[in-house]
Amino acid sequence: MRALILSGGHGTRLRPLTYSQQKQLIPVANKPILFYAIEDVIEAGIDEIGIVVGPNKEQVMETVRGVDWDADIEFIYQGEPKGLAHAILVARDYLGDDDFVMYLGDNILKEGIVKHKKHFEKGNFDASILLQEVPDPRQFGVAELSDDGKTIKRLVEKPKEPPSNLALVGIYFFKPVIHEAVKNIKPSWRNELEITDAIQWLIDHGYRVGWTKVTGWWKDTGKPEDLLEANRLILDDIQRNIQVNTKAQIHGRVIIEKGAKIDENTVIKGPVVIGKNVVIRNSYIGPYTSIGDNCIIEDTEIEDSIILEGSEIQNAGRIVESLIGRRVKIINGTSHPLGRKLVIGDNSRLIL
Ligand code: TTP
Repeated sequence: MRALILSGGHGTRLRPLTYSQQKQLIPVANKPILFYAIEDVIEAGIDEIGIVVGPNKEQVMETVRGVDWDADIEFIYQGEPKGLAHAILVARDYLGDDDFVMYLGDNILKEGIVKHKKHFEKGNFDASILLQEVPDPRQFGVAELSDDGKTIKRLVEKPKEPPSNLALVGIYFFKPVIHEAVKNIKPSWRNELEITDAIQWLIDHGYRVGWTKVTGWWKDTGKPEDLLEANRLILDDIQRNIQVNTKAQIHGRVIIEKGAKIDENTVIKGPVVIGKNVVIRNSYIGPYTSIGDNCIIEDTEIEDSIILEGSEIQNAGRIVESLIGRRVKIINGTSHPLGRKLVIGDNSRLIL
């Protein structure tokens, strides 16, 4: 079996972060989201991985090549992101006649894919999808099950009257017959080749589409609040590992990487991850915070936030539930005249 991990797309809902960085490279608990997908696939015993890349392909390729993976990884250029089924179309040669798992590179799944892969293989399905029970299915793709509950009867996108509370998770297993489906569907109203249409084509042509239920947490990190939630969920599972000498007060499960300098006037309350060479003085870092490499934090309280690498925050009061990009400077100037001096990119959000 091969894997196809999708790391293209526009990431419009995560602007302005995604103007300069591909969405799947944004770190959660200091690790790019995309790496969680790669790790899940390798854990399931798959060692041939194709990663679909779009206009920011260099960034994705460089970041992935920076790690020595236990798998052969190839990159497949999609150009314009014309839909999830379109990604399969452009990966046709790479996939050959192998079965494959398609994994959306911005999804994180606590339980991994091992048991889901087994179900697909044992049941001899033509495709198998992952579903999770959600309280309000109207904003998702939703599945209607067959009478015996073993296969899928119908998929509906964002239904007004959902046939069930089972939402589609961004991970799918396919036999090569999916290539025929993808060739035979037409673009949707948003001009994309939809994976739900391709799966529906399989069902309508008599192929068996199985399913498994996701029981642990699953996060599609499309929006800023989803990233913060994924950060909380991942940090909930970390173990204490402090790789530096510091006189700071450190409570609970905290990871501090090499080269960090944290002074004795600082208090850190886990779960927290602090990257390499971070400098923290006279500050409070509270639960559910991830601070990327080479950041400088002074005279500031931060809680429940993600601060990306190389950012500098000085005397900024209390920062909560925030997502701060790379190399951002937040400085509280005390010079007169009083007032805020701002240099802010397009589509930024400041809640003052
Ligand atoms: P989406 O989140 O549906 O789309 P997007 O990334 O363009 O984001 P937004 O809606 O905010 O503009 O995509 C799901 C995943 O699939 C995501 O990891 C990006 C990837 N993708 C591709 O690789 N190619 C594509 O053609 C599309 C549509 C998505």
